[in-house]
Amino acid sequence: MEEVLARGGNDQLKGKIMATLFFEPSTRTRFSFETAMLRLGGSVISNPDMMATSSLRKMESLIDTGKTVSRMADIIVMRHPEAGTVHELATSSIVPVLNAGDGPAEHPTQALLDVYTIWKEKGRLDGLTIGMVGDLKNGRVPHSQCRLLKHFEVKFVFVSPEALKMPDDIVQELKENSREMRVTENIEEAISEMDVIGMTRVQKERFSSEEEYKKYAGIFVLDVELMKRAKSDAIVIHPLPRVDEISVDVDSDPRAKYFDQVHNGVVLRMALLSKILT
Ligand code: NCD
Repeated sequence: MEEVLARGGNDQLKGKIMATLFFEPSTRTRFSFETAMLRLGGSVISNPDMMATSSLRKMESLIDTGKTVSRMADIIVMRHPEAGTVHELATSSIVPVLNAGDGPAEHPTQALLDVYTIWKEKGRLDGLTIGMVGDLKNGRVPHSQCRLLKHFEVKFVFVSPEALKMPDDIVQELKENSREMRVTENIEEAISEMDVIGMTRVQKERFSSEEEYKKYAGIFVLDVELMKRAKSDAIVIHPLPRVDEISVDVDSDPRAKYFDQVHNGVVLRMALLSKILT
C-alpha cells in the first residue's frame, strides 16, 4: 500500500461506502480512515459528532443505529467514550465494524500502525525493548499495543505513577505469554534500556475531576536533556495529540517518529480496508 499511496491511490474500493461514527473528538484517526478509503477510490459518509447530532439524541439505541447504518454502508468505523460500545453496535450490524477507540479500553488500529512503524524503522520486533510511558491505566493505545506485541519476543518497560499503572488483566495476559516486563516510575533511569520510547498523554477526560487530573499532568516530559540518555538508535512514538509530554524541540531529533506515524496510519488503514472489503 506504500506504493499505491505514493501513486496517489487507486480505485480498488470504487463503489464501496465507509461510515465513520464518532462520539468522541478525533483529528488523526477519523481523517486517517477517511483518507485511506478515499485513496482507494471508495466513498465516505461521516458524522464526527454523533453525541450531538445523531438520532441517539432522540433516544435511539446503539443497536438500532447499527442496524440502520449497516444497511447503507459497507463498513463502519466507530469511536465512543465508553468501553464495549463498539462491540455492542457490531452485534447488530450486518457489515464489519472497526473500533477506532472505545473509552479507555482499546484502540486496535492505532496499535497496528504503531507496530508497523516499529517494524519499518527497526526491521524487526523480536528482541526489542518497548517502553510505554504515561497514563497506562486510561490510555487505550498502550492497552492495544500490549495485546498485539505480546505475540512477539519483546520486553516491556512500563513507566507510570502507581495510580496510573497498566491494568492487571493486561499484565496477566503478558505473563501468560511469558513476556518479560519491568515496572518503574523512574524514566531517567529506564529510558536508556528502550529501543522504542512509547509516550502517551495523561488522559484528562477519563479523570473524575480537574484536581485529580492535575496530580498527574506533566508528570513525565521527554525533552532534549532526557533524549541524551536514550539509545542512539531508539525511536520515539506517540499516537498524538500531545499535551506537554514531549517538548517541541524533540521534534527535530531524527529519533522522533510520531509525525511519520501519521503517514503509516493511512497506509495501514488502506491495507486493512482493502483486506476487509475485497
Ligand atoms: C489516541 C486516542 O484517541 O486514544 N489518539 C489517536 O487516536 N491518535 C491517543 C490519545 O488521545 O491520547
